[in-house]
Amino acid sequence: MCGIIGYIGPKASDVVMDGLYKLEYRGYDSAGIAEYNPNTLSFDIFKEIGRVEDLRKTIDKSYETNLAIGHTRWATHGEVNKINSHPHISKDKRFIIVHNGIIENYKRIKYEYLKDYNFYSKTDTEVIVNLIEHFSYEYSVLDSIRKSMTILEGTYAILVIDTKDNNTIYFAKKQSPLLIGIDNKGSVLSSDLLSFVGVCDEYFSLEDNTLGYVRGKELVILDILGNEIKPNYLKLGIKEEDINKGAFNHYMLKEIYETPFVIRNLISKYFDNDDIVLNDDLVKTIKEASKVYIVASGTSYNAGMIAKYYFESFGHKEVSLHYASELFYDNTYIKPGSIFLMFSQSGETLDSINVINKYKGLFKIISITNQEESSIKRLSDFSINLYAGREIAVASTKTYVAEIVMSLILAFSICDKKNELRQELTNVALAVDKVLIKAPICNAIAKELAKSSYLFYIGRGLDYYVAIEASLKLKEVSYIVSQAYPSGELKHGPIAVIDDNTPVIALITNEATNAITRVNLKEAKTRNAKCFVISSEAFAHDNDALSLPNVVQHLSPVVLGVAVQLIAYFTAKEKNCDIDKPKNLAKCVTVA
Ligand code: G6P
Repeated sequence: MCGIIGYIGPKASDVVMDGLYKLEYRGYDSAGIAEYNPNTLSFDIFKEIGRVEDLRKTIDKSYETNLAIGHTRWATHGEVNKINSHPHISKDKRFIIVHNGIIENYKRIKYEYLKDYNFYSKTDTEVIVNLIEHFSYEYSVLDSIRKSMTILEGTYAILVIDTKDNNTIYFAKKQSPLLIGIDNKGSVLSSDLLSFVGVCDEYFSLEDNTLGYVRGKELVILDILGNEIKPNYLKLGIKEEDINKGAFNHYMLKEIYETPFVIRNLISKYFDNDDIVLNDDLVKTIKEASKVYIVASGTSYNAGMIAKYYFESFGHKEVSLHYASELFYDNTYIKPGSIFLMFSQSGETLDSINVINKYKGLFKIISITNQEESSIKRLSDFSINLYAGREIAVASTKTYVAEIVMSLILAFSICDKKNELRQELTNVALAVDKVLIKAPICNAIAKELAKSSYLFYIGRGLDYYVAIEASLKLKEVSYIVSQAYPSGELKHGPIAVIDDNTPVIALITNEATNAITRVNLKEAKTRNAKCFVISSEAFAHDNDALSLPNVVQHLSPVVLGVAVQLIAYFTAKEKNCDIDKPKNLAKCVTVA
């Protein structure tokens, strides 16, 4: 949610604007920038509703600046308008702030500390900047931020400018990510490593409850008690070419096409010949666990359904699957000796972080993320990297497949069939290559789906789990209301809404459920539904809409998953949707 970036150094405005483009996938309701104007010796603030590109058009280009902070917003408090966009300025105009996160007690702070202030926006952020200003009449800037931190409840990464000082950016962090990089050109502070590409080669990630400032190239980091913290720099592992679209029109399509590489990459990272290579302690922890709790959100949750099947079928484990946002508030009984498997492509989903914080220390936490560096990774006892390469389209595609494959590797690591998996994965990567060749067929199906405003995906077993993800993907990018049902359930209610030309897409990759799912589809067809079948070649019928290469049954979600992703992509394209940045969504959800 929301991305923040600040820069001190030459052409700061350009660096911040470039960074905002790279952060835009975190939220794109509106964007803003505050920058020092050397002509007026004051700070200018520019804000615009819409995309970073819209903001760019409004910026004064008549000067160059050495200091700027910027923000791209996913609205939580206050509707999408210019007033609620960041940066925000304090009442007496001394401080300017950008903020990622949510302040839960902002109403109480208004009442207890800022009674005389008239707030111009509806944001929680305006409270932070005024609280800092409130303390600044008595304390230094740093102490005012520290005092504010002891009062603020919730999550935040903030960058603060003191308008009396055009060479310093103050910062503070709790739970929302904040990274810093300093090199001989300048100093950059950002929510995300992406905005370091082309700016800094090294970075480090701030711990929670830290604050400090960057003054030119001087960096001071303190914990909440005032103890100085030494940064631990890491090499930036992302290059410019890793994050551009290449020959594709959209990141989503590029990322779907990267799936075979992702699978091969996982093979090369987690196998030595036919042997699975994983940390021994990690494998022992999974083996000895009395129960596995899989916890995730969104697409990662849908991958978790398949992971549950793998751990039960191959690992012979008792598994329970939970939405992170539910488990945090539930009083679910957790069996002693259990472990938590946290799936999160971003590694920053607050719902998952809340669950980890609730159970950390009581149970072992294993995270599976696609980030070399993330909050979830840092909070976990063991972390597993998906090595899928950056996923920039808001809708997850290749990381969904990576999560499925990785969970199968984990499940096999504790069972005695482990030697077969490498070959199976090699075959499935080849099968995905063949699915991608069938993209024009997916496009043809999509053209039909795009004519409808609602539809159904149906399937049984693993096909049903993929149907759920197929529905989510289609909703996310094409805005078509899609529901997934176990095919046998269609007749128990949903069939009531089927009328002329309601599309019903049956996913059938399991020979055992082939005949019965086709019977269920026939029931819909009798009610005039427009029926499509996506099946495995081995038992495809002549008039099936798409047939997929045969793979071992448990890996069918991979080939099927890619096919339904392509269908979602082409449907959105047919409808001229903003595919990589669907309305109202954000890739990295750092609010609960
Ligand atoms: C957001 C994204 C989804 C993602 C979900 C969970 O809602 O838009 O694509 O599946 O968060 O994200 P995570 O990073 O934890 O997998």
